[in-house]
Amino acid sequence: MKKASNLWKEKTALLELKGVCYSYPDGTEALNNIDLTIYRGEKVAVIGPNGAGKTTLLKILDGLVLPTKGVAKIFGMPLNKKILNSKKMYNVRKRLGFVFQDPDVELFSATVWDDIAFGPLHLNLSHKEIDKRVEETLKLLNIENLKDKHPYNLSGGEKRKAAIAAVLSVDPEVLLLDEPTADLDPRSKAEVIDIINELNKTGKTIVTATQDMDIVPELADRVYVLNKELMAEGTPKEIFSDIEMLKRNNLEVPEVMKLFEVLKCFGYDYTRLPLSINEAIKVLTETIETEGGHIHLHIHEHTHEEIKKLKGKYNHHS
Ligand SMILES: Nc1ncnc2c1ncn2[C@@H]1O[C@H](COP(=O)(O)OP(=O)(O)OP(=O)(O)O)[C@@H](O)[C@H]1O
Ligand SMILES: [Mg+2]
Repeated sequence: MKKASNLWKEKTALLELKGVCYSYPDGTEALNNIDLTIYRGEKVAVIGPNGAGKTTLLKILDGLVLPTKGVAKIFGMPLNKKILNSKKMYNVRKRLGFVFQDPDVELFSATVWDDIAFGPLHLNLSHKEIDKRVEETLKLLNIENLKDKHPYNLSGGEKRKAAIAAVLSVDPEVLLLDEPTADLDPRSKAEVIDIINELNKTGKTIVTATQDMDIVPELADRVYVLNKELMAEGTPKEIFSDIEMLKRNNLEVPEVMKLFEVLKCFGYDYTRLPLSINEAIKVLTETIETEGGHIHLHIHEHTHEEIKKLKGKYNHHS
């Protein structure tokens, strides 16, 4: 059997878009000329401002809608009207899990338990196996206390977790997550990020559409910037280094990056700019170890001038 690392080297394309355009029936042009590939085992983020087409893109990757122009391939299969209604598509859909931006779309049963059991029930599993899957998923998301509640009566964050659970219980190969951390409190957000990363380590491919720049470095090895068209593609480091491109697209950098640039104005000569808290801890630890246990900060002649410039660099007001 091939090792996971070798599979990664081969870079198997699971989802591919070539020259994809999409317009809604009312004429709204949501996507224009998108070329994009998602490889097996990757963690990819799609970022872009409101109305950029992120949700529309995920719908196309999930085979829910067909491009109005161009080609969408799912697991190597080019989609067309005939395939969308065929048995083949049923088998493909089982391999994809789409967590919708609006959790209400996913939750329609009388209890949370039933919603999580809904997917496995359609996989022809035994009742014992279904019970096991539901219990495991409830535990994974730490929502055992919600299992008998009516989804309508859940809080926003509880609904989001229940919706994620309803998709995970099917055990799909690829997860398409639309704003998975919206409405979540800090602990729930950290839990969901950890779960997604654990799932990625077990081989699942993750595509996350998000507005929350702070989670991008934690949830992505590669980032696509979307604003109807693809504006950029690269590692989080490459993407967050291009401030002008981000500003043009109404996006920003993670807060921790800004803080370290402020520290630079106070004379902290960091070795690399951290994108996440975990990276910040590493960078600070390295500095303190090499600088004999200290970080030297001071106000010099240009400190406040530099801070003013820095604020201008990140300012989004027109
Ligand atoms: N069913 C629809 N009918 C007509 N236009 C639509 C429909 N759904 C979305 N749109 C339009 O398509 C464009 C892209 O919407 P989409 O939901 O994909 O953006 P998004 O990047 O996910 O935005 P957000 O960050 O607000 O979730 C928007 O201009 C939106 O108004
Ligand atoms: Mg959206």
